[in-house]
Amino acid sequence: MAVEATPVHPYLGAEISGVDLTRPVSADDFVQIEAALNRHAVLVFHDQPLSDDQQIAFSRHFGPLEIMPVYAGYKLRIRAEFADISNLDAEGQLLAQDSDRRMFNQGNQLWHTDSSFKYVPARCSLLSAREIPPEGGETEFADLRAAYDALPEETKRRLDGLVAEHSIFHSRRQTGFVNFTEEIRSRMPPVPQVIARRHPGSGRMTLYLAAHASHVVGWPIEEGRRLLEQLIDFATEPRFVYRHHWRVGDLVIWDDRCTMHRGRPYDDARQRRVLHRTTVSDEINSVERERRGTAA
Ligand code: SIN
Repeated sequence: MAVEATPVHPYLGAEISGVDLTRPVSADDFVQIEAALNRHAVLVFHDQPLSDDQQIAFSRHFGPLEIMPVYAGYKLRIRAEFADISNLDAEGQLLAQDSDRRMFNQGNQLWHTDSSFKYVPARCSLLSAREIPPEGGETEFADLRAAYDALPEETKRRLDGLVAEHSIFHSRRQTGFVNFTEEIRSRMPPVPQVIARRHPGSGRMTLYLAAHASHVVGWPIEEGRRLLEQLIDFATEPRFVYRHHWRVGDLVIWDDRCTMHRGRPYDDARQRRVLHRTTVSDEINSVERERRGTAA
């Protein structure tokens, strides 16, 4: 069967059919999946009941996987190749409403780009739905290439060459979480990321934004923060957003270099929501990439 992409939104997102991800994916099929990701930025695969091993094997086609740091000293429920996008503790029980870990997880409900706070951030993320609540808990994706295209020319000129500083401490302060381990504090200094740049997969210009972005380098803090907030508000207008309603067995892949995403609320005190995310590392920091003058 041929791999086929059917768009689900005017700007971003396509449903992919014609491939079984529980089996090894051929080189030809992968070329088509990668081309679809470069074009549509978000790919939805239905009916893919992946085991952790199968998800890891498929994810590695895109590049090296990130290993999750332990941000607050809690025990992991699943392997360190996964970000645990669930409301469960290591014993599989619902997290208490006042738990530190729940507060940390709330950061995923802010518009963000995975790992933009790492010097070399994420290339793409793969999220597999294992248990889904009956209501809420959708994931929304914003198209940062379409948003860049729609900016006034004067704003595009103003963004040229600007760099933002990104930090996990900045985004988590917004959810009230401050209990990072000393090791994480010393290992994760703020990092620079170029705000308007060329997306390596398509050659199109894109914004690069996230709740982790705290200010613009070289600008007064408040002025830079205002600009970042304005850009995030613009880029997440409903016209640029695809909302994914999960089904168990869905695998969704998104390109972190030209999208933002956020999880939506649900009754996490009573309902289980369990998704496993593998995160593929990019190749190079964006400021370094600009300095070398390469779009790739
Ligand atoms: C994520 O940020 O990777 C997950 C978002 C969600 O909870 O849907």
